[in-house]
Amino acid sequence: MPSYLVTGASRGIGLGIVTKLLQDPENFVIAAVRNPEAESIKKLGNEYPKARFAVITLDYSDYASIAPAADEAAKFLPAGLDHLISNAAVSFQEGASFETIDLKLFEEELRVNTVAPIEVVRQFLPLVRKSAAKKVVLVSTVVGSLELAPNLATLAITYGATKAGLNILARKWAAVLYEEGITTLALHPGWVETGSGPGIKDWWAKRDPDRRPITVQQSVEDTLRVIKEAKLEEKIKLYSHTGDVLPW
Ligand SMILES: NC(=O)c1ccc[n+]([C@@H]2O[C@H](COP(=O)([O-])OP(=O)(O)OC[C@H]3O[C@@H](n4cnc5c(N)ncnc54)[C@H](OP(=O)(O)O)[C@@H]3O)[C@@H](O)[C@H]2O)c1
Repeated sequence: MPSYLVTGASRGIGLGIVTKLLQDPENFVIAAVRNPEAESIKKLGNEYPKARFAVITLDYSDYASIAPAADEAAKFLPAGLDHLISNAAVSFQEGASFETIDLKLFEEELRVNTVAPIEVVRQFLPLVRKSAAKKVVLVSTVVGSLELAPNLATLAITYGATKAGLNILARKWAAVLYEEGITTLALHPGWVETGSGPGIKDWWAKRDPDRRPITVQQSVEDTLRVIKEAKLEEKIKLYSHTGDVLPW
């Protein structure tokens, strides 16, 4: 039974991934969330049997919560964790200019988007090592691309910086993990219609009013295909949900 653990699974893309994965009776799925009492999670708990669906508590802002979450997950995963999908992230100030960036908010964005994923990956790695598929997926964004930064200069500066940080960690770590047969991917899920990043919508509305975000369903279908098709030999890439490789 292929196993998946998805963080930030209470809403948005994370919830979409978990919901889609649960529709396949072959999968065992763990939703890692800040609040297990969230309505979305309770609903899934009522719909799917405990033999295929588990919920654990995990808060990226509280590093100390991560090791106990991995211990909890281990109880459900005697054959290890095939797919670790680190999806949780925050974006607090997409419209800020360099003059108006709130430094305290930037620190919190860095904590959740860049620093916490290190602890998430290292705590869940023993479970990934034990598994058959051995895949680590870091949900990133094109806004974190250094190459494309001049084109998106005023968009989500701090969020982009946190994801660029995540990308370099992912790239370096992937080269190490490759040696032990673990496939690591950085993944841009598309510009997706979720509650996150309202400032991004405003930014595009001013520059390209015809541009529209894709649905969560579309993003999830694409994203899961990219995860499935990713091969160890390709080494780490920054994939778009379409499967295209984006420049770092
Ligand atoms: N939407 C887009 O257009 C887009 C584009 C590119 C990349 N992405 C990336 O895709 C991923 C998902 O984005 P989304 O649009 O689905 O975001 P979202 O709708 O804002 O959902 C964010 C998720 O992260 C969780 N989260 C936030 N802070 C957390 C923390 N401290 N600890 C644990 N979980 C936390 C939230 O949980 P709560 O419910 O508890 O708050 C929620 O489940 C992110 O990595 C994002 O950077 C999104």
